[in-house]
Amino acid sequence: MKEQEFLPISGTDYVEFYVGNAKQAAHYYQSAFGFQPLAYSGLETGVKDRTSYVVRQGKITFVLTAGMHPDSEVTRHQAQHGDGVKVIALWVDDARKSFEEVMKRGAEAVEEPTVHKDDSGEVVTASIKTYGETIHTFVERKNYNGVFLPGFVAWDPIYKAPETGLLYVDHIVGNVNEGEMNKVVDFYKNVMGFDQLISFDDKDISTEYTALMSKVMANQNFRIKFPINEPAKGLKKSQVEEFLDFYLGPGPQHIAMATEDIIHTVSEMRSRGVDFLSTPATYYEDVWDRVGVIDEDKKELKKNNILIDRDDEGYLLQLFTKPVEDRPTFFFEIIERKGARSFGKGNFKALFEAIEREQESRGTL
Ligand code: FE2
Repeated sequence: MKEQEFLPISGTDYVEFYVGNAKQAAHYYQSAFGFQPLAYSGLETGVKDRTSYVVRQGKITFVLTAGMHPDSEVTRHQAQHGDGVKVIALWVDDARKSFEEVMKRGAEAVEEPTVHKDDSGEVVTASIKTYGETIHTFVERKNYNGVFLPGFVAWDPIYKAPETGLLYVDHIVGNVNEGEMNKVVDFYKNVMGFDQLISFDDKDISTEYTALMSKVMANQNFRIKFPINEPAKGLKKSQVEEFLDFYLGPGPQHIAMATEDIIHTVSEMRSRGVDFLSTPATYYEDVWDRVGVIDEDKKELKKNNILIDRDDEGYLLQLFTKPVEDRPTFFFEIIERKGARSFGKGNFKALFEAIEREQESRGTL
């Protein structure tokens, strides 16, 4: 057994957002993104301090949680950071062993292994800290056949929106403070047994005005990929600094969700009210030469502002939403991979210029 295989992870189990109004957030993910209602917990299920709605599309499960009174931890988190990701939960076969292994290697505990039971069986969870106030929860659910987790009941409202083709979480990016990227990278390397896939320095990721650095960490089966960004010196304020200013510290910056038909997914989401970054017409003047032969209709790609990049294994198509909450913090990426396993390096400049135009309009560049 390879030394690193002390922490086998089957995939992302769920992502939990702490939000101001879980009921309304759940409706947004249903109507705009096509998530399906799954589970609920709150006053009716005996939970007094918080309300959670769980939605799912493909293998992507989001938990939207709001606090019920001012001194709730959820309410405090939301007041500090705005709506944002609190928990990146990892699906494991053995939560106790996962916790034990990472604790041996220096993890900071948030919750010791805990057994949650109901009529549908039991789930074991354990949590540790990662960057900022974000946590990882190990979820062992092999002895459970309930709808989500013990304590949750099925949520089956009348309203259901059609899915938009989102399939699974491709990667989750974290923004950390200047000078902290390597510390977080070391945490994923030493404590979690991840490997570094790629590193981008400020020469790869810069425009005339702003820059950032990034290292991509992945677990052994590549189902978990966490790029970690830190701001780099530029003439103006980078998007990572803007995030840190408004989130008041490090936190998850974006979740990339995979589709097998990005034109359909993006046009459907756009028609339902999701705002995407715009791509200037000039981007399409030289992109076709850069990417060569592709399967998609180029007119449709351009019409939908979709970005294209090629690496030595294939190509990928991607597009980024604007932030999905009031603060300019967390957003989503929609990605379709056609063989490429990289992250769209050829699009960084166009992407960051698009973000700078948004920053300019917010007065935060
Ligand atoms: Fe990304």
